[in-house]
Amino acid sequence: MASENKDRISQATYKIMEKLLLIDTLDEALSGSLQTIIDVLDSEAGILWFLDKKTGRLFPVCHSGPEDVSGVSIQADSGIEGVVISTGETVRIENAAEDPRFEGTVFDSQTFKTKTMICVPLSGAEGPIGLIQIINKKDGSLYTEEDVTISSRMAAVAAMTIDEKGLIVDTGEEKKVLISLRDVRKDYPSGEGISHVLQGINLDIYENEFVVVLGESGCGKSTMMNIIGGMDNLTSGTLTIEGKDYSDPTDQELTVFRREYLGFIFQAYNLMPNLTALENVQFIAEIAKDPIKAEDALAKVGLADKAGNYPSQLSGGQQQRVSIARALVKNPRVILADEPTAALDFVSGQEVLKVIEDIVRNQGTTVVMVTHNAEIAKMANRVIKLRSGKIASIKWNLNPLTADEIVW
Ligand SMILES: Nc1ncnc2c1ncn2[C@@H]1O[C@H](COP(=O)(O)OP(=O)(O)O)[C@@H](O)[C@H]1O
Ligand SMILES: [Mg+2]
Repeated sequence: MASENKDRISQATYKIMEKLLLIDTLDEALSGSLQTIIDVLDSEAGILWFLDKKTGRLFPVCHSGPEDVSGVSIQADSGIEGVVISTGETVRIENAAEDPRFEGTVFDSQTFKTKTMICVPLSGAEGPIGLIQIINKKDGSLYTEEDVTISSRMAAVAAMTIDEKGLIVDTGEEKKVLISLRDVRKDYPSGEGISHVLQGINLDIYENEFVVVLGESGCGKSTMMNIIGGMDNLTSGTLTIEGKDYSDPTDQELTVFRREYLGFIFQAYNLMPNLTALENVQFIAEIAKDPIKAEDALAKVGLADKAGNYPSQLSGGQQQRVSIARALVKNPRVILADEPTAALDFVSGQEVLKVIEDIVRNQGTTVVMVTHNAEIAKMANRVIKLRSGKIASIKWNLNPLTADEIVW
């Protein structure tokens, strides 16, 4: 082996060690390891699979790249094809033709190309932990034996750290998909041309999960939320809600969907200034299909004693909590929150987060929340990063923090 190759290998090993030394939570160790390997191998995407020893299935716990693989799982010892280059071991994919990783932008054909993918096992002290899979070199070239050596060395270091921190993944029972986006695109006319604001979003939102959407200003977060919430139409692609197609809904369908299914929270509280806190909530309860009592909704956000106050007699945080009560009173399946804490100071922001936490953890409501605050993302079950209208990465938090533990 040429000495420059050796250099590249030891530099890569050093890089991941250095990274892992600075990390103190398991979630950071997982995403940090994966991202470092993807960067060193200049690749398009990567998946860290965890082996559930009880069921023998591999689940993605951490993923970077444009396709959503969250719902996929692979039986580790059945199926058809795929070879771990470093060991010659077979990784079996149940149905490559229907596996979303082998469609669209990751692979342009349905062919299984092992030279554009590396799979290396993660081995802990007591046997296999999982698998790191790296997909597609950015320059389109094929992976080399050196790349395989690098990823194996890095995986060995990562496995040691992960092992030390104790990887326990609750893969649980199958999660139910509530909302599905498939190749969703949104174009806006811009000057002379067209601006492609969403460029093929593939995403599933599950029952009772807390999803946080991160991304720089202008990357398409609000546009995506508005499409999910039926407030904006999509240019192409499909939106399905519990199996029903809402890609091109009638006004009637939209009204019913927004009224019965969804609650919204925005950065602006949008309360009626001439109605009290309670009346602001009651007003929505009256048009909902299966509302809870307005008094109960206010109590849930900790404002039972402010029912008679007008918005001008409430702080910003309290007004935001009234707007959450207004979303809750509809008893919705899903709450969409677009930067609900952006206008609030830390203490009020944290109060709002506590309410949102209670909604997800104790009431079983799904919450999708946009924020540009990466600290808040630590509370989520799943963190979706958008970049320029595409999904850049999806990460599971194995140990979401509570609102009390968040500081910014
Ligand atoms: N109604 C619209 N007409 C034209 N362009 C729009 C419209 N809404 C949003 N955009 C553009 O789409 C891009 C994404 O906007 P948005 O989804 O609001 O971003 P984010 O919420 O991530 O900050 C921006 O460049 C914005 O200017
Ligand atoms: Mg926005």
